[in-house]
Amino acid sequence: MQSIEAYRKAFLDYLQEQNISKEPMNLYSPVSYIMGLGGKRMRPILTLMGCHLFAPDFEKALPAAMAVEVFHNFSLVHDDIMDDAPLRRGKKTVHEKWDINTGILSGDVMLINAYQYLEGYNSDQLKNLLHLFSKTAVEVCEGQQFDVDFEQRTDVTIPEYLVMIANKTSVLVAAALQMGAIVGGASEENQQRIYEFGKNLGIAFQLQDDYLDAFGDPESFGKQVGGDIIENKKTFLYLKALEMGSSEAKNSLLNLFSIQPEDSSSKVALVKSIFEESGAKNAILAEVKKYTDLAFESLHKIEVNANKLKVFQLFGEQLMKRTV
Ligand code: IPE
Ligand code: IPE
Ligand code: MG
Ligand code: MG
Ligand code: MG
Repeated sequence: MQSIEAYRKAFLDYLQEQNISKEPMNLYSPVSYIMGLGGKRMRPILTLMGCHLFAPDFEKALPAAMAVEVFHNFSLVHDDIMDDAPLRRGKKTVHEKWDINTGILSGDVMLINAYQYLEGYNSDQLKNLLHLFSKTAVEVCEGQQFDVDFEQRTDVTIPEYLVMIANKTSVLVAAALQMGAIVGGASEENQQRIYEFGKNLGIAFQLQDDYLDAFGDPESFGKQVGGDIIENKKTFLYLKALEMGSSEAKNSLLNLFSIQPEDSSSKVALVKSIFEESGAKNAILAEVKKYTDLAFESLHKIEVNANKLKVFQLFGEQLMKRTV
């Protein structure tokens, strides 16, 4: 295995070789913009690592890694429209910089491009990759719809929330790893084990995203802090605060999440103080740790030399400490 940085570099070099900017510019400029904005590149890195865990070389997983990252970026462009988000990776979102129609079509072409990156795999691998990729894409859509439906609902439960984030986020992290494992020739058992690792890691990751959305540093986070509160997202913080808070806190939270004021700054500040005082802020951090530990348990069930798993453990530990 190599360092996380080495996998990132290999991916970025490959990305650099792609010919993204072409005519019509209004279709492809936003693609090149969002793909070039950076981001952690965690999913493609996991695809390369997932391959290298089972094969002596990881370069053959580069197209699969690109498929996953292009799909992820497509989902962000459409997600930012759905969430009315102004900022992504510290810059204007695509629909803010261009317009909503541009975001829709550029997102669509990215979804199709993602599949094109898989065309070069041999027929057996291709069948498995396509099956997993399409199943995952459908689940992401389902998760996204639940997320949007929850904005209007007042009876969302924590188990429902966990299913929603597993779908909108963690299945793609899991699939990124399994796609690497498929290309690397892993047994079906090991493919399932690495998928389970990714599933738990992805849940921890989305819980952390929900935490950072409220309590992150606007300087480093790169997204509008408080965006979930403005959009009345029923995150773990909100659901836990309703469960743990005083009846006064609970009533004021219910009230705050039924309004969408013109100036949201006092709403965001009040909700954050309820998240904090109710104990929900600490509870979500404990939950991030719980799912990261579950991920590590799944990780050690993979039947390979334990030394090779160390970089995956490091990856999980770094994710827990992230500010971006
Ligand atoms: C953002 O994903 C969307 C979520 C699932 C929370 P990332 O946090 O991986 O975004 P980038 O690619 O690093 O910007
Ligand atoms: C992201 O959920 C899920 C997908 C993009 C499919 P969020 O809406 O929480 O992601 P961010 O916070 O905008 O990155
Ligand atoms: Mg969003
Ligand atoms: Mg969203
Ligand atoms: Mg978020």
